[in-house]
Amino acid sequence: MTVMTRESRRERVALPPLDKCPEHVAIIMDGNGRWARQRGLPRSAGHRQGTENLRRIIRAAVEFGVRIMTIYAFSTENWSRPRREVMLLMRILEMVIDRELQELDEEGVQIRHIGELDGIQQRLARKVVEACDYTRDNQRLILNVAFNYGGRDEIVHAVQNIVRAGIAPEDITEATINNYMYTSDLPDPDLIIRTSGEFRLSNFLIWQGAYSEIYTTETYWPDFGRGEFYQALVEYGNRRRRFGKTDDQIDAEFGGRTGIKERSL
Ligand code: FPP
Repeated sequence: MTVMTRESRRERVALPPLDKCPEHVAIIMDGNGRWARQRGLPRSAGHRQGTENLRRIIRAAVEFGVRIMTIYAFSTENWSRPRREVMLLMRILEMVIDRELQELDEEGVQIRHIGELDGIQQRLARKVVEACDYTRDNQRLILNVAFNYGGRDEIVHAVQNIVRAGIAPEDITEATINNYMYTSDLPDPDLIIRTSGEFRLSNFLIWQGAYSEIYTTETYWPDFGRGEFYQALVEYGNRRRRFGKTDDQIDAEFGGRTGIKERSL
């Protein structure tokens, strides 16, 4: 079921190009359940509408020039939800791959998976690997799908692999650990968005998000449309990122500009 929201009706409004666009945006898509409850609908309706919104936001990310997007679709903690809901989220991922892969590919989206495939039904795990393989040469938007992902779990795996590789303790630096993270070849997220009025990272990109700007909104994920996404990117452009330095240092380095690192992939 797809419900036409206020935001989706306004979707076509032309928006001016952004002065500063974050290169990597990560999103905690929260509030599907509350969106549904507010309407007297089952939680499944919230997840379905959340999935519909995800399509919109992926397209908006391509439109606005975001180069990397990481979405929190299923956390290692989500296994403790009722079995029916867990199964639904698995089915949604499979459905997104079955129905959207072609269009995502045509839009130049490179799908990547971050998290563990162990524990996921074999057929789904195979589809995830195939979808990543099918889109591997696309360059317009890298879409990291965090599925069966946990930030602490990622660090545990990194440490295990560092030990397995026989790296001496004195040779381990931040760069070493970074090399063993799922996102080792990507810049850290510039901006983390969390919908539904919560102010937590909930085990999402806890290593990579050390210096990310955070945008939170009361809006539930299914209603977080293109317009508010654009506003979040505008707000990011107005933030001053100091990376632990003082304002004076940033002024000296960037000549009084915002201090946002200008990078390209
Ligand atoms: C949090 O809302 C959302 C999730 C746990 C799942 C997010 C999934 C989607 C948006 C659908 C797209 C999914 C895939 C697999 C591509 P919540 O259920 O915790 O909401 P609540 O806090 O209001 O109960």
